[in-house]
Amino acid sequence: MEVSEFNLLYKGFLLPKLAHTEESLQYLENFKVKDDDVFAVTYPKSGTTWMQNILPPLLNGGDLTPVQTVPNWDRAPWLEEIRAAVVLEERPSPRAIVSHMPYRLMPSSFYKSKAKVIYVARNPKDVIVSSYHFHKMASFLEDPGTFDDFVNKFLSGEIVFGKWSDHIKSWRNPELKDRILYVTYEEMLQDLRGVLCRMLKFLGRELSTEALDRVVSNSTFKNMKTNKMSNYTMVPQEIMDNNKSAFLRKGVAGDWKNFFSPELDAKFTAVIREEMKGTNIKFPWDE
Ligand code: A3P
Repeated sequence: MEVSEFNLLYKGFLLPKLAHTEESLQYLENFKVKDDDVFAVTYPKSGTTWMQNILPPLLNGGDLTPVQTVPNWDRAPWLEEIRAAVVLEERPSPRAIVSHMPYRLMPSSFYKSKAKVIYVARNPKDVIVSSYHFHKMASFLEDPGTFDDFVNKFLSGEIVFGKWSDHIKSWRNPELKDRILYVTYEEMLQDLRGVLCRMLKFLGRELSTEALDRVVSNSTFKNMKTNKMSNYTMVPQEIMDNNKSAFLRKGVAGDWKNFFSPELDAKFTAVIREEMKGTNIKFPWDE
């Protein structure tokens, strides 16, 4: 695997160097998962920031203060990134945490814990379009080149966080039993309230109708886009240039149709279908 100046190789896995360091990965490995920790796990560009907006108020009785006053990366930090060590130790339980790690690279305490996981999947064709734009606006990621080149890299797995299908399959591990809830970005777009109700039931929590309405309304694309605590505009422009492409870019399903040629679509579909063969996983975009 070629490791560019932007990345580091961690257990066969490329990670962006800016927020992933030897110390942050050591913290991840030694992290003591608590039984009431709640993880939102995603392959990048599948709805992580969205979950960072949703999980904290679902866990605190519907209080939107964290969403209005704390940046998303501290509100529900990435376990593998540098901010985790700074914010997680002081955080009262239940803690909301996000991660892009595959199942096999979670801390050893995770496997023995009862901590719950919400896994969000998104149509990989929209994931790659979102990722392509993110690579253009984030100076800590390699220039993606042409869209077709970037898709080929994505399919070969020579990309940060590895292959999409490996990530999806890793989190279908039967060991997780009822500790994991699977949702999709597309379901969230279609019926956010319904997904939030499923999450509450899974987490064994309740919110009043008014509180739930507030969380739903606060988590729409439009409202998140104008919230500086969620839209990444607080990150210096030389690190993330929202003028090149906004982090909260389009927030839709099916944008891939504007980027894939019929030939690229056929190739992409064939590769992903082959990789997912035998898994029996049904996604809304496969129909
Ligand atoms: P697009 O680039 O397609 O717009 P992540 O947070 O995992 O990096 O994912 C980012 C993607 O999720 C972006 O997709 C972003 O716009 C989208 N997103 C974030 N919040 C959203 C919301 N409330 N509604 C719809 N999409 C949202």
